[in-house]
Amino acid sequence: MAWAVAMRFHVLTIFPGMFDGPLSESIIARAIERGLVEVNLHDIRDFAKDRHRSVDDYPYGGGYGMVMKPEPIFDAVRSVSTEASLGDSVPVILLTPQGTPLTQPIAEHLATYEDLVMICGRYEGVDERVRERVATCELSIGDYVLSGGELAAMIVIDAVTRLIPGAVGSIESTEDDSFSTGLLQFPQYTRPHVYEDCEVPEVLLSGNHAEIERWRRRESLRRTLERRPELLGHADLTEEEREFVEALREERDSTN
Ligand code: ADE
Repeated sequence: MAWAVAMRFHVLTIFPGMFDGPLSESIIARAIERGLVEVNLHDIRDFAKDRHRSVDDYPYGGGYGMVMKPEPIFDAVRSVSTEASLGDSVPVILLTPQGTPLTQPIAEHLATYEDLVMICGRYEGVDERVRERVATCELSIGDYVLSGGELAAMIVIDAVTRLIPGAVGSIESTEDDSFSTGLLQFPQYTRPHVYEDCEVPEVLLSGNHAEIERWRRRESLRRTLERRPELLGHADLTEEEREFVEALREERDSTN
């Protein structure tokens, strides 16, 4: 089937080679091959002004490390904008540990755009004027520090690409993924039925789809309560499901 390009990622980085692996395997590679997704890599060094192609400099005020200079990043974003005829409303995302933590709803929101620009920071940081004047938002992939924004950008590309219709086949549907329901995913099993004395829950072999759905939903609730109870506050639960969670809580509290 022929698909139209649904999403173009424009990535600004000083290490475009880092993207070779992730873009050449699995779902992202297939989405690119199908023409659903385009990933355009732009080397920030190409926008450096001096003959050493330098993109960083010492921090004003002293201190350790280097800071990414504003000019090459400003120029790279301008050039991408013109080249790809991007409008003013295209998100320009700076990947940084100081950004808003990436969540499934944010990935879903990003998947509604046709173009996304991403700036991968490096070194000790990026000149603050990039934040003030170029980036429209800042994203973090978690509370830890990476050597740069490249791996974070790949994670955004992956999380967003799998939401684009046609990128993930129905056989790998994203509907049941953890977080897409606001809950963690239920336990999954495949053959064999018994492995090293460990059996697949009977209900999954029953062929009773309503019962299977009910079991899965309850296991999702159980797992979410055990591992990420804060997610339950935002999940869309029926009255019966709320009562089920309450019963689980009481059971847990009485055994502790
Ligand atoms: N760059 C360095 N660490 C990062 C993180 N946790 N998220 C996004 N970009 C980063």
